[in-house]
Amino acid sequence: QEDLLKNIISHAKEYGYVFPSSEIYDGLSATYDYGQYGSELKNNIKKYWWDSMVRLNENIVGIDAAIFMHPKTWKASGHVDAFNDPLIDNKDSKKRYRADVLIEEHVEKINQKIQKDVDKAAKRFGDSFDEAQFRSTNGRIIERQAKIDAINARFKKAMDDENLADVKTLIEEEGITCPVSGSKNWTEVRQFNLMFKTELGSVSGDAADIYLRPETAQGIFVNFLNVFKTGRMKIPFGIAQIGKAFRNEIVARQFIFRMREFEQMEMQFFVKPGTEMEWYEHWKNQRIKWHKSLGLGEENYRFHDHLKLAHYANAAADIEFNFPMGFKELEGIHSRTDFDLKQHEEYSGKKLRYFDNEDNESLVPYVVETSIGLDRMFLAVLSSAFKEEKLEDGSSRTVLALPPALAPVKVAILPLVKKDGLPEKAREIFDLLKLDFALQYDEKDAIGKRYRRQDAIGTPYCITVDHDTLENNTVTIRERDSMTQERVEISKLWDIVDGKVNM
Ligand code: GAP
Repeated sequence: QEDLLKNIISHAKEYGYVFPSSEIYDGLSATYDYGQYGSELKNNIKKYWWDSMVRLNENIVGIDAAIFMHPKTWKASGHVDAFNDPLIDNKDSKKRYRADVLIEEHVEKINQKIQKDVDKAAKRFGDSFDEAQFRSTNGRIIERQAKIDAINARFKKAMDDENLADVKTLIEEEGITCPVSGSKNWTEVRQFNLMFKTELGSVSGDAADIYLRPETAQGIFVNFLNVFKTGRMKIPFGIAQIGKAFRNEIVARQFIFRMREFEQMEMQFFVKPGTEMEWYEHWKNQRIKWHKSLGLGEENYRFHDHLKLAHYANAAADIEFNFPMGFKELEGIHSRTDFDLKQHEEYSGKKLRYFDNEDNESLVPYVVETSIGLDRMFLAVLSSAFKEEKLEDGSSRTVLALPPALAPVKVAILPLVKKDGLPEKAREIFDLLKLDFALQYDEKDAIGKRYRRQDAIGTPYCITVDHDTLENNTVTIRERDSMTQERVEISKLWDIVDGKVNM
């Protein structure tokens, strides 16, 4: 699986999807640049999300707030005081780790042992196997599950009580070792704030400390009343936003999965207090449907309910995706209560309320948010699309089976040879389609080689112009995944392509 991630990273670089940032200076750790195809794929993911939120829901509108915000924002939101990771150092390897990640990985190992027992039994009993019953009656599994529950509960309590000493004791008692050196020689656990700080203003002494936003959500909260009034909105309604966020992650790794500069696509849905659980379930359903509609494989998604809630939430779940490194968080759905708006009322002295006609009083709405990392979505799409196939003739090909709606290039136009008027005819077809579809024209190299190049880029269709085209105004359309070809009339081409690439 590690090899798979490595292959994806090198394919992404070779084909202009993702480059290490400032590579000529040997790169900057955990920072990446999106190349000519990567930026198109990213834009297409954004559009697919934005359309599903803002176009398909009459009561959701979009904004684009600044990255810099008044410093009081982060006091009010709790990020100055509570947006911390518990860190621990290993004294022998001098490596730094997030204590919660060490514990999570330890729990995952126990989970894998349980899964092994389940898989073995499933194989043995075949069709008659009842997994739920097996899990609830097998002694070893019950014991291991109880251990997992106890570790999670103790960690949650230690964090809630700010008892960092007990987090260290838990790590020691569980015999958790340093992943690099295998050593058990740990330091104390301490809290580390994840926000990047900078200065606003150039005159020394006048400068104010400000932060790069660690989530886009706060730009929505501080604009709640602006949008509510100017958009003539009624509760319930939502505000959507796509933008950069920054976190000084200690363990930034696994390619674009965890970065220090990344993008979020967030939507805050403002609801009447008391109805938030209904909307929480509604958005959980809507979001999993959105993911499944892309056809990346339904089995690649699962929900994970949070045990340890963020400082603002009363319920939270992740949608996890089966990345090359296993199931990991892709999106969060959080019931944030009225925490943020109430805090902003207190810190700004401004009322952030709506008048509820039913209750005949001013209320601070509750908020349900959906928050997905754009870069993680990019990795989910890229990794599920990446395939190395052995073909019947013994050769192999690398193909990106991207959903056509997301593919950077929808159609490649290829004259079979670079003579006999075929390039001119191909250019005519190019002009016919170029305003409506992202195209690529390619006449270099043998046709087979050009097909492979388009496969590797993820282009779902290739239109080939050959000598018959000049005779009867038809071309072939080759489909990327099946590699089958179909002959069609040029006059019908626009409709056919439209039907194939627009979901
Ligand atoms: N406003 C809520 C919020 O920010 P979060 O769970 O901390 O919640 C939401 O982040 C999503 O942002 C995550 O599910 C993940 O997809 C993405 N994300 C968070 N940290 C990230 C990082 N360091 N690199 C890439 N994506 C990240």
